[in-house]
Amino acid sequence: MASRHMVFRAFYALGFTPWDGHPQSATLRELVEGNHRLPPGSALDVGCGTGDASIYLAQHGWQVTGVDFTPKALRKARAKARAAQVTVNFVDADVTHLSQAGIGPGFQLIVDNGCFHGMSGSDRELYVQEITAVAASGARLFMVAFRPSGRFGPAGVEQSEIERRFTPAWSLLSATDEPRPPDANRFSARFRARSYVLQRQA
Ligand SMILES: C[S@@+](CC[C@H](N)C(=O)[O-])C[C@H]1O[C@@H](n2cnc3c(N)ncnc32)[C@H](O)[C@@H]1O
Repeated sequence: MASRHMVFRAFYALGFTPWDGHPQSATLRELVEGNHRLPPGSALDVGCGTGDASIYLAQHGWQVTGVDFTPKALRKARAKARAAQVTVNFVDADVTHLSQAGIGPGFQLIVDNGCFHGMSGSDRELYVQEITAVAASGARLFMVAFRPSGRFGPAGVEQSEIERRFTPAWSLLSATDEPRPPDANRFSARFRARSYVLQRQA
């Protein structure tokens, strides 16, 4: 079976990227722009794709590192950041090997729009280790993940698995159903997304 790496390379090569261009979640906007927003610091966008969340964070004063293992996505991300006139450190690396790639530590905010939910069980285990290692004490992890749908597409993840995998290093602060975007395409309309905010324990 093709590795996830090859699958994403093929998707980007074919231009089959139905996740691209979705609006930023209201939960993330609340963390970044809300009345009780986090003070801007250093942020990590994992599986950053073509960089929309990274650019959004940079536009709000965050120092952002965007990580993805698909070179074509990163090329587009760099071009979009240039066009938006913001600086983002886009790095070609695997989220399951962040420390090996020299990324971190000390991130105050980690954003994952649709990366974790597509991973295998063993990669999820490495992901939790790596994300935990690069997070500052008290850091927030914001994640949007599809619930399992049993259909073609990402495997998805239940809230119970997130709680089990991230405890005790992280505690779950909130879990919210994401609204279906009004312009959902045939691919994205099949899935129910949920967003999670977790906090790294001191
Ligand atoms: C569903 S796309 C979402 C992209 C972007 N976050 C967005 O919301 O538009 C998932 C992204 O994660 C990347 N990805 C998946 N597994 C990864 C891994 N282990 N390491 C680095 N990037 C990964 C893929 O290349 C792809 O760009």
